[in-house]
Amino acid sequence: MADRLKGRNAVVTGGGRGIGKAVALALAEEGANVVVCDIGGAVDGSGVDKTPADEVVEECKKLGVKAIAQCGDVSKFADAEAAVKACVDNFGRIDIVCNIAGIDRPKMIWNMSEEEWDQVVAVHLKGTFNFIRNAAPLMREQRYGRIINTVSEAFTGGPSHLNYAAAKGGIATLTYGAARELGRYGVTCNAICPRAWTRMTADDKVIEGIKKRIAAGLMPADQLDRMMNELADPSYFAAFVAYLASDEAANVNGQIFFVSGTELGHWTQPVVENKVTRDWKKEGPWRFDELVKLVPEKLLVGYVNPAPPQPEEKK
Ligand SMILES: NC(=O)c1ccc[n+]([C@@H]2O[C@H](COP(=O)([O-])OP(=O)(O)OC[C@H]3O[C@@H](n4cnc5c(N)ncnc54)[C@H](O)[C@@H]3O)[C@@H](O)[C@H]2O)c1
Repeated sequence: MADRLKGRNAVVTGGGRGIGKAVALALAEEGANVVVCDIGGAVDGSGVDKTPADEVVEECKKLGVKAIAQCGDVSKFADAEAAVKACVDNFGRIDIVCNIAGIDRPKMIWNMSEEEWDQVVAVHLKGTFNFIRNAAPLMREQRYGRIINTVSEAFTGGPSHLNYAAAKGGIATLTYGAARELGRYGVTCNAICPRAWTRMTADDKVIEGIKKRIAAGLMPADQLDRMMNELADPSYFAAFVAYLASDEAANVNGQIFFVSGTELGHWTQPVVENKVTRDWKKEGPWRFDELVKLVPEKLLVGYVNPAPPQPEEKK
């Protein structure tokens, strides 16, 4: 144990499996006490099982820290409140929140049910809000805190699960905004954008889905090969989250980091790339006839339509 987080107390959602488990162990490895918050459900969000959280608690304890399991549902505000309270009641205070819990219920937008949309957005986006909202007053008061959220490359518009992609986009915005609100109180809020070999990615159905999306031109032809090459066990990059949770990263705030076994990256915030300006007082409103020229010539320089119309498939 390196003890760089000794005396710190963390809540890790989704800590029972996959990336959350690797992060819980990486924090424990550095000496942090951990509340492992995990409902123990399936990838599609069904079912409840306390075993994964209990097992990770035992592994954390073997590393010499205190750990407790909390089999809550992150999408429920009261469960987030209970997990934060459990951290304070058992360990004395809360220093670190890692929002990692997640599910996936992929469907094309024209097939997605309202329930599939609501559930996925509730677990990812509302779940992240729930934990930030419950921890923020305590962190603000103590003028110290580390919040680490989880987005996905899908936040740029990853097709075939727009419930998931949109929720991750929401988490990116939440990360940028919470960082600005809390930074002055010594509380940082960052996010990881991981690529890891977990049951969410190492699933035959997921791999079939990717093959179909490549065939339909919705993903680059080399997507699956790249995935297979890059997907490592999440323990390969879990130390990155421990770093963000440490004093070493006190000045790292409002940032999103790509993390995998082979690469680390820094996502910049979207910026306006090309601009045209005019004096509206002299020239009046933008006109349709000028936009027809301006948009392709000045705004969309180097632009390629990501999904141009295709000839109708033979049935
Ligand atoms: N694996 C990847 O390559 C990848 C890529 C991008 C983003 N992510 C994100 O990383 C996070 C972890 O994914 P993973 O790959 O480790 O998946 P995983 O399925 O292995 O682990 C997710 C964990 O979250 C828990 N969980 C789900 N819903 C919950 C709820 N309502 N309340 C409490 N716990 C809940 C599950 O029980 C499970 O233990 C997710 O947010 C996912 O979207 C993963």
